[in-house]
Amino acid sequence: MIAFLIPMVALLGLSVVAAVGAMRAGRHAPESDSGPSQAVARARLAGPATGPGPARAAAALAGPARPGPRAGVRGRRRGPDLLPVGATVSFDEERKEADLDGVLGALDRDLVGLVPIKRKVEQIASLLLVDKARNKFGLTAPRPNLHMCFTGPPGTGKTTMALRMAELLHRLGYLEKGHVVHAMRDDLVGEFVGHTAPKTKRVLDRAMGGVLFIDEAYYLYRGADSKDYGQEVIDILLQVMENQRENLVVIMAGYKDRMEEFFTVNPGMRSRIAHHLDFAPYDLDELVSIGQLMLNEASYHLSPAAMVAFRDYVEQQMRQPEFANGRSVRNCLDRARLHHAHRLAGNAGQRWTRDDLMRLEPADIVDDDLVAHARDRRVADGRPTAGRLTPGGQPVPG
Ligand SMILES: Nc1ncnc2c1ncn2[C@@H]1O[C@H](COP(=O)(O)OP(=O)(O)OP(=O)(O)O)[C@@H](O)[C@H]1O
Ligand SMILES: [Mg+2]
Repeated sequence: MIAFLIPMVALLGLSVVAAVGAMRAGRHAPESDSGPSQAVARARLAGPATGPGPARAAAALAGPARPGPRAGVRGRRRGPDLLPVGATVSFDEERKEADLDGVLGALDRDLVGLVPIKRKVEQIASLLLVDKARNKFGLTAPRPNLHMCFTGPPGTGKTTMALRMAELLHRLGYLEKGHVVHAMRDDLVGEFVGHTAPKTKRVLDRAMGGVLFIDEAYYLYRGADSKDYGQEVIDILLQVMENQRENLVVIMAGYKDRMEEFFTVNPGMRSRIAHHLDFAPYDLDELVSIGQLMLNEASYHLSPAAMVAFRDYVEQQMRQPEFANGRSVRNCLDRARLHHAHRLAGNAGQRWTRDDLMRLEPADIVDDDLVAHARDRRVADGRPTAGRLTPGGQPVPG
């Protein structure tokens, strides 16, 4: 008798879950598409005569109340597709389907260091995999909150990681398109009354199905300026991040201390962001490895002497206040390619080998600005302007 009752109860339970799932899907199906809600927003925003107030504009832009927790993810199973209670799942298939190992492997290969960030990305990927597997059994849980904040100094890979994250979320079925729309204050904040909401809406429309990456988000808020429309953007974002989280992932980025201030004055924003990832500045070895990776990608390499010059150069640059980690390395190498090209092309009569076309020499690793600066200083000091310069553009002593 008991043996007969247990499967019956299990079956009943599954049908209830399936029925609730189907009801939710039915009720929210038209709303999970951003189309109709955006049409409503457009209609509401179309009346400049009455001019929607910020709150109304935010409500219109935010779309419908958040759909049921299971909607909005590709491959969500409902009703008869549910696995029976006694079934088992393995993550092999899901990992393969999403080519998760490919994405995570590429992350490891293409990005130097960033170990804590990569670990966090793997955790997020695992959460999403388990979420999908649970869904196969009809185990309901709210869709994981995927809004993120990336903090760290310039050039530490925040934008690069946002692109990778969008790809990952797309492959796992959590984002329909997986593209990234990059926005800063000027892309979102209007200049006069009624200008901000439509401007923000245009950016949000473009970002739907992907990631909205807001760089230096703290510039949205100018506490001292009561006429500033940044707060209107923040209000709209707060609503969209809650109500449209099936369709959009927001990643904010900026310096850690300034983001902290921003969240302190906008606690609602902090609570909407589930993942805070802090990008540390790179050490010298990591920067040199980043440089080598960039050169490999572009089929260049450093001669042994150029490697020494490059290391010296980066070490000097790290002490400069405007140093921007990976970006400074990229800039240095872009300049090196220019110098290399000039060195070769300037020698019209000479024949160059394939290796010559790939190999950078110490003479190529120079910073034009520093060279000019050093030369100006020498002119100002009444010293000779010719002479050897270090890779950092400093005159060689002696
Ligand atoms: N760990 C890394 N491995 C390889 N390249 C990297 C790494 N981190 C950064 N880079 C490279 O450095 C450059 C700057 O990176 P990115 O634009 O992602 O930094 P960011 O943190 O967004 O900077 P910012 O705060 O100034 O916007 C890019 O060319 C990127 O490919
Ligand atoms: Mg960036």
